[in-house]
Amino acid sequence: MKNQTNNRRDFLKRTGLAGISLVGASMIPSYASGENNSKSAMDFAAEQQRSQKFNMSGYGAPKLDVVRVGFIGLGSRGPGHVANMSLLEGVEIKALCDIVPAEAEKVRKQIEFAGFNPTLYSGDADAWKKLCDRTDIDLVYICTPWNLHTPMAVYAMEHGKHVAIEVPAANTLEECWQLVETSEKTKKHCMMMENCCYDFFELLTLNMARQGFFGEIVHGEGAYLHNLLDSNFAKGGYWNMWRLRENASRRGNLYPTHGLGPVCQVMDINRGDKMDFLVSVMSKDFQMNNKAKDMAASDGFYKPFVDNPYRGNITTTSISTSKGRTIMIQHDVTSPNVYSRIHKISGTKAAALKYPLPAKISIGDEWVTDEAMKALEEKYAPAIVKKVGELAKKVGGHGGMDFLEDWRLIDCLRNGLALDQDCYDAALWSAVAPLSEKSVAGRSTSVDVPDFTGGSWKTNKPVDILLEKGGNTKVVRSKPVK
Ligand SMILES: NC(=O)c1ccc[n+]([C@@H]2O[C@H](COP(=O)([O-])OP(=O)(O)OC[C@H]3O[C@@H](n4cnc5c(N)ncnc54)[C@H](O)[C@@H]3O)[C@@H](O)[C@H]2O)c1
Repeated sequence: MKNQTNNRRDFLKRTGLAGISLVGASMIPSYASGENNSKSAMDFAAEQQRSQKFNMSGYGAPKLDVVRVGFIGLGSRGPGHVANMSLLEGVEIKALCDIVPAEAEKVRKQIEFAGFNPTLYSGDADAWKKLCDRTDIDLVYICTPWNLHTPMAVYAMEHGKHVAIEVPAANTLEECWQLVETSEKTKKHCMMMENCCYDFFELLTLNMARQGFFGEIVHGEGAYLHNLLDSNFAKGGYWNMWRLRENASRRGNLYPTHGLGPVCQVMDINRGDKMDFLVSVMSKDFQMNNKAKDMAASDGFYKPFVDNPYRGNITTTSISTSKGRTIMIQHDVTSPNVYSRIHKISGTKAAALKYPLPAKISIGDEWVTDEAMKALEEKYAPAIVKKVGELAKKVGGHGGMDFLEDWRLIDCLRNGLALDQDCYDAALWSAVAPLSEKSVAGRSTSVDVPDFTGGSWKTNKPVDILLEKGGNTKVVRSKPVK
């Protein structure tokens, strides 16, 4: 076991695969022709396991009375996190970075009310490195396009910073391993900010599962069904059309973490169970290329987006766990759909289903009544929700979960506690995207899921939702009234 990390790394070097995205595996002939009986070099590299250098699961880094934060990426998502952090006790916002100077300046003005005077980093694609090079920053919070997440996080950890990364944390299997290996080597936290783990019903079902309400958990479902067709094609929307480019070049379940995170927590994946293998089935693209053609007919800007290898409308991924349980995750961001993350938990005694709203619980084969539902919510609301839930609803977006995740991150860092989502969760939940691409490229072939924990999943402890420690970080400001 000892030399397996090196074996894996040596193999990547020997074969010249280091640095090549494993997404490229979809282009290799054996997959393109559907011949998947013999393993390609890239399969072999991806499946190599390694021994753990240090177990980051359950690890609490030294306490920080004040968490000094630098943010990178201040487009649509970043400013909300800055705003949340600006309200918390024990947070100093030291630096703001966006390649576009106006975005950084906009956010600086937003937090003037709180007395912060952050340094701004802008103007070139590498300005973020200067932020990471500073010695007076503890946490780097990354809200950039997906392909920048891992390079930025690895650099920041190498320069002594904890990192919080928007979803997904990584785009390729190699990047997933880089996050794990760097977090272990530096003992810096690497948290993927999966906000859906902090939504009320998801936390409720987590607590119910812990207390045996569902019996044995058999199956979970999650999804990202969100029509982003127009947003993807909007000029002036996502920076440099990054999201359209992702959808135009990668074929699979590209955004699995919102549905997956809460289900994995209910099933204690990486903490008592682990993913074993998965298969993904993808429909053809019914809309994106047609849209590109329509747009290109009147605007030459869109011509490069015509006849790209768009991912299909819907991808369905089925995952089998080592304990014989199953997870289904869907991705559809183009078909007209009412927004849904499904969040179905199915046990031997009872089940839960969040979407379509309102969320419901069934016992046996019957949904419980509205009255019984209220009683269950009262009984099983976990301590973490009770503590900050009402507060979060007042100050945060997405019904409070965004605020709750930011509060919890800071509270854990200030109290020297393990984070709810560690580098193994970041790697595993993100890895489902490139693994699904591999499965789709191989005519829905079965793909092994790497064990990023190096075997420690057998003994890692479940996430704490009881707030037995910490929970003392206050909200010291209110958002200014506009
Ligand atoms: N958790 C959620 O609910 C949720 C919601 C929306 C977005 N997101 C995630 O947030 C991330 C950002 O998405 P977004 O919608 O804000 O995208 P966006 O395009 O609006 O913002 C990205 C920002 O990154 C900046 N940027 C690009 N290259 C940079 C560089 N080299 N250095 C510094 N800044 C750079 C851009 O100028 C832009 O302001 C993505 O990972 C996305 O998946 C998560």
